[in-house]
Amino acid sequence: MSTPLLQLSAVETYIGGSRILRGVDLEIFPGEVVALMGRNGVGKTTTLRSITGILPVRAGSILLAGQPIHPLAIDARARAGLGYVPQGRDIFPHLTVEENLQIGLVVHRRKGAAARAALDRVFALFPVLREMLGRKGGVLSGGQQQQLAIGRALLTEPKLLILDEPTEGIQPSIIDQIGDTLKQLKAPRAPATALDEAARAVAEIRHAVQQLKQEHSLAILLVEQYVDFCRDVADRFYAMDRGAIVASGPIQGLTDEIVKAHLQV
Ligand SMILES: Nc1ncnc2c1ncn2[C@@H]1O[C@H](COP(=O)(O)OP(=O)(O)OP(=O)(O)O)[C@@H](O)[C@H]1O
Ligand SMILES: [Mg+2]
Repeated sequence: MSTPLLQLSAVETYIGGSRILRGVDLEIFPGEVVALMGRNGVGKTTTLRSITGILPVRAGSILLAGQPIHPLAIDARARAGLGYVPQGRDIFPHLTVEENLQIGLVVHRRKGAAARAALDRVFALFPVLREMLGRKGGVLSGGQQQQLAIGRALLTEPKLLILDEPTEGIQPSIIDQIGDTLKQLKAPRAPATALDEAARAVAEIRHAVQQLKQEHSLAILLVEQYVDFCRDVADRFYAMDRGAIVASGPIQGLTDEIVKAHLQV
């Protein structure tokens, strides 16, 4: 078997004296989409923040392509190939969509034709961003802001794209309602009613993850509470409960028993 792209071994992370991660083991191989699942407050975001360096790990190790990254600062880990889209709407509301995207291009100093090619790739995944280039980020819908944040992270050309609840900005009730309908949405070009716009955003994020997976150019670590979304896009899953991994395997092995025991509220 090849070297894991990312490997967490016995990672322990504390926040203000409390042990939040209690020995987390997790691996991602090149080209894989891995879902990290679990109820609210179990430590999913803490795991991502430990990987990206926002939180220091107290014990254990984090390797990227075999090299330890846990001693590195946040920006060094980003340059080593981590692209991170935090939970919530991480865009600059007063900058235009175009200016928000430019920030992603700065990392590798892409200009001219190289910058246009990189942007075209993002527009192919998220057509709505091209339509909205001149708009301020703050006027975009939650789903559109999420697409902008993912697009900007892709422009940093990561080896591993880390997404914290990409469907979260999009109302949960709407995602539930549209569950099955989404599967039939091949070319999402819905009119802009609230429901259809949310449907389009979820469909485009889902499509983007599947597209990126097919290109095999990068791996994705996805924190996500929507089981159907994970079943659609992930190759493997890890279920987390109270700071530890309690189940893992191929996504086909995500049984209703595991969902009931560890994922359902
Ligand atoms: N800044 C903080 N100060 C104190 N406790 C924190 C802080 N951040 C997180 N925690 C605690 O750490 C635990 C794990 O939080 P974390 O954000 O990793 O959960 P999560 O699985 O991402 O949950 P959610 O699904 O709600 O985003 C929770 O009990 C939380 O209360
Ligand atoms: Mg979280």
